[in-house]
Amino acid sequence: MSLLTRRRLLRRAALSASAASAARTGLAGATTAGLAASTTAVGGCEDTPARDPEPAPDPGLRFPDGFGWGAATSAYQIEGAAKEDGRGESVWDTFSRTPGRTRNGDTGDVAADHYHRYAEDLDLMRELGLRSYRFSISWPRIQADGSGRPNQRGLDFYRRLLDGLHERDIAPMATLFHWDLPQALQDDGGWENRDTAERFADYADAVFHALGDRVPVWLTINEPKTVVQNGYLSGHHAPGRQDAAAAYLVAHHLQLAHGLAVRALRASGATGRIGPALNLHPCYPADDTAGAAAAARLHDGYENRLYLDSIFKGAYPQDVLADLGPDSRMVRGIRDGDLATISSPVDLLAVQYYTPIYVTGAGGTVRKWPTSEADWQQIYPQGLYDTLTRVTRDYGRVPITITENGLPCPDVPGSDGTVDDAGRVIFLRDHVAAAHRAVRDGVPLESYHVWSLLDNFEWAEGYDQRWGLVYVDYQSQRRVFKRSAHWYREVIRRNGL
Ligand code: FCB
Repeated sequence: MSLLTRRRLLRRAALSASAASAARTGLAGATTAGLAASTTAVGGCEDTPARDPEPAPDPGLRFPDGFGWGAATSAYQIEGAAKEDGRGESVWDTFSRTPGRTRNGDTGDVAADHYHRYAEDLDLMRELGLRSYRFSISWPRIQADGSGRPNQRGLDFYRRLLDGLHERDIAPMATLFHWDLPQALQDDGGWENRDTAERFADYADAVFHALGDRVPVWLTINEPKTVVQNGYLSGHHAPGRQDAAAAYLVAHHLQLAHGLAVRALRASGATGRIGPALNLHPCYPADDTAGAAAAARLHDGYENRLYLDSIFKGAYPQDVLADLGPDSRMVRGIRDGDLATISSPVDLLAVQYYTPIYVTGAGGTVRKWPTSEADWQQIYPQGLYDTLTRVTRDYGRVPITITENGLPCPDVPGSDGTVDDAGRVIFLRDHVAAAHRAVRDGVPLESYHVWSLLDNFEWAEGYDQRWGLVYVDYQSQRRVFKRSAHWYREVIRRNGL
C-alpha cells in the first residue's frame, strides 16, 4: 500500500462518521478542526421552544400494517455484570480499563445494570408499546475464551430475556456480535487472524442451536466498518490499533465471518431470518467539481460498497481494491471461495443511519449541516431517504430494517423530574418522515429502531453522551421516560406520524 493510500485511509478514519466521536483522538481532533470551519452550530438538542416538537397528526404518514416499531441496545453498553455467571473478558473490558482510552475512564462493568434489571426493562418496553427489540448477545458470556462448549448460564440469561419478550408480544432481533470480541481471541490476533471468522461461526452455531427456536431475526456483525475504522485506523475503539494495512484485512475477515454465520444458520435448521447490520453513510461531493465527484465515489466505496457489494454482488468494488493495491494485506488475504461465502443469500439488510459525508476533491471531508453533541454526526434526515432508496435501486428489493437511528442530547431531569429532550423528538420525527417517504417510493422497509432504548455506555465517550429514549440515573439505576419516549409511544400507537 502506498504511503499516500495509507495517509488517505488514516484521514478517512479520523474524519469518519462512525460510531463514537473521533474528536478524542489527537489525530482526529487536529484534522477535523481545520475542515469543520464551514459549520460551527451544534444542532439537534438545543431548547427550541419556537418549534413545536409534537408531530402534526397527519393521516398521510401512516406506515404499513404490522410495521415493526422498535428500539435497540447492545450487550456491553447496557448489561454490566462483567464478571458474573462465567462471562469472560472482552476487548472492550481491556480497552476501557486502560487509562486514557475512554472519557473519565468509564467502563461497562456496571453500565445500565440490565443483566440484573432486564425484567424492569422489559416492562419499560411494554409500556413504550415496542413491537420489536434489537439487542446483542455477548460472545464472552457464551464462550468465555471465544471457543469450546457454550456456557449454559450465559445462554440462560438470553433465554429469560427472550421469554420475557415473547410474553410481552415484542419481536426479538438478536445481533450476534456488537464489538465485544473475547479477549482470548484478540490475544491470538483478533480479526486479523482468519481463524477468528471460523470461531465466530462456531459461536453462532452454538447460539442458533440453543436459542434458534426463540429468535425470528438474527443480525450477524454490527457495523463491521466501525471495527475497521475506529478499531484499526483511528484506534479510538478497541482494540485501539492504528494500522491501515491490518484494517482492511480485518474488514475481509469480518465479512467472511458474516457469511459463515449465515451458512451456519441455514445448516442449523433454525427457521429465523438473518442479515448484516451495516452503518451506511451517503457520500456526497462537497462541491460540483469533477474532482469532488470522483473522490466522493471512492469514499463511497470504502464507506458503503465494500460491505454491500461483497454481500449482495459477491465481489469487492474494483475501485477500492485498486486503491488498496494488489499487495495489500486484504487483497492477499482473499482466498478462492471467500466471496461466495460472503455473498450467501441473506433474508434482510439492517441499515443504521446517523450522518451524511461530504467529500472534497482532495479527498477530505467537510461539514454542511449542524452537528449533534457527537461531533461526527451532521443532522440530515434526507440522507436516510437517499440511503434507503439507493440500496433498493442498486441492490434489489431486499427487505430492510432500520436498526439504529438517533442522536445524543445532554439530557438532565428538570426540577419536576421530567426529561425534556425536545430536540430528540424533532430529530426522530424528521427521520421517521424521511423513512416514510422512502416507503412511499417503494423501499421494502419493515421496521425502525431508535438508538437507543436506554442511556448507556457510549464506547470511547463513556457515559457522557446520552442516546436513550429512557433516562438512566447511573447512581440509583432509576429509569425515567424522556419526552421522546412519550412521543414515540404515540407514534407507535398511531403507526406513524
Ligand atoms: C453505532 C453503534 C452503537 C452506538 C451508536 C451511537 O455506531 O452501533 O453501539 O454506539 O453508534
